[in-house]
Amino acid sequence: MPAPTYWDYLNLPKLLDCQGGLDGTPSADELHFIIVHQTYELWFKLILSQLRLARDHLAAPRLPEERVPFVVHHLGRVNAILRLMVDQFVVMETLPPQDFLDFRDKLLPSSGFQSYQLREFEILLGLTPERRIKYAGTDPIEHIRSQAHSESGRAVAARLSATMEEVSLRDALLSWLVRAPIMGSTPDSPGDAEVVDQFLHDYFARVQADQHATGDKLVHVLDGADEDKIRARIEASLAGVRSFLLPDGVSARRAVAALVFIESYRHLPLLAFPRLLLDTAVELEEQVLLFRHRHARMAERTIGRRVGSGGSSGVEYLDQTLAYRVFPELWNVRSCLLPREKLPPLVGEANYRFAQD
Ligand code: HEM
Repeated sequence: MPAPTYWDYLNLPKLLDCQGGLDGTPSADELHFIIVHQTYELWFKLILSQLRLARDHLAAPRLPEERVPFVVHHLGRVNAILRLMVDQFVVMETLPPQDFLDFRDKLLPSSGFQSYQLREFEILLGLTPERRIKYAGTDPIEHIRSQAHSESGRAVAARLSATMEEVSLRDALLSWLVRAPIMGSTPDSPGDAEVVDQFLHDYFARVQADQHATGDKLVHVLDGADEDKIRARIEASLAGVRSFLLPDGVSARRAVAALVFIESYRHLPLLAFPRLLLDTAVELEEQVLLFRHRHARMAERTIGRRVGSGGSSGVEYLDQTLAYRVFPELWNVRSCLLPREKLPPLVGEANYRFAQD
């Protein structure tokens, strides 16, 4: 067998023969438009593979401590790609609005809205169908399914249906949190539900005292100005904290308790990586939002407020998608953390040290 060449290994002749557009004669600007989109789709492909690896580790019935860094590693790679994708819009923006108009009508009604890899990414992250924003009255997944009259359309629809059967990163993360030891207690420890409940009630009482103290201090330094408003805001914030910290259901409480516990006692050696994992997941969501925001601004700069090539309200629709949150709990926990010196005393500390300590 001959020694492999660079071009054979990367299948370059095939890869570089896919930029002809619909008629095989794209202008220089259209070539630019096609290549920028294709590079994004390649990045999506890599993101999906990394996300599945991270999800598989997390969804395993048991995730040994030494495997947590692998999850962080794969998600960290997704974040690095997303950061690049956010920056990459500057390349797209070298296409002046008028030059885009030269070939835009050719591609109607195709649109990034049909990026099935973005939909796969959303599904794998855990965006549920009822939370997905309708586009021109149409559900984005249903829109793709409606293209099943062609062979490629059927393949894409089948791919999305199969992805919907998979465990999402969100569900895998929550099931991992539900299993975490809290104050040294695991789900199969006797009296675990009481330990978890007591931890959460104690935590809430301390947050209440802490936020009231902050309110008193604010009122004092502001010399009593707006006292009623400040106190009302603190009470509203505490109502939110209460419903977050004390949800209904044993599993929901365990997951929240684990989140609060890991964030609060992150100095413990065995909590360092779990904390990093949660932070990496928050960063992932942050990067996805930045990607959406950056894409919307790039689109606005290029086509203004006109109707999108797929027929949606364009930038208005894109801005609506900024409301998506896949991991609301990971954001909410930030509203109720306590300073170190006000934390409940730790129980079962030895469980969170390295074996040789
Ligand atoms: C001139 C450049 C671009 C313009 C003016 C533009 C504009 C738009 C608009 C208006 C939509 C809303 C759907 C519609 O009615 O078409 C959309 C959706 C989308 N575009 Fe772009 N886009 C551009 C480039 C890109 C690039 C480079 C990517 C690569 C990732 C991309 C990915 C997407 C995706 C994934 C969606 C679906 C978003 C969602 O439904 O959440 N677009 N685009």
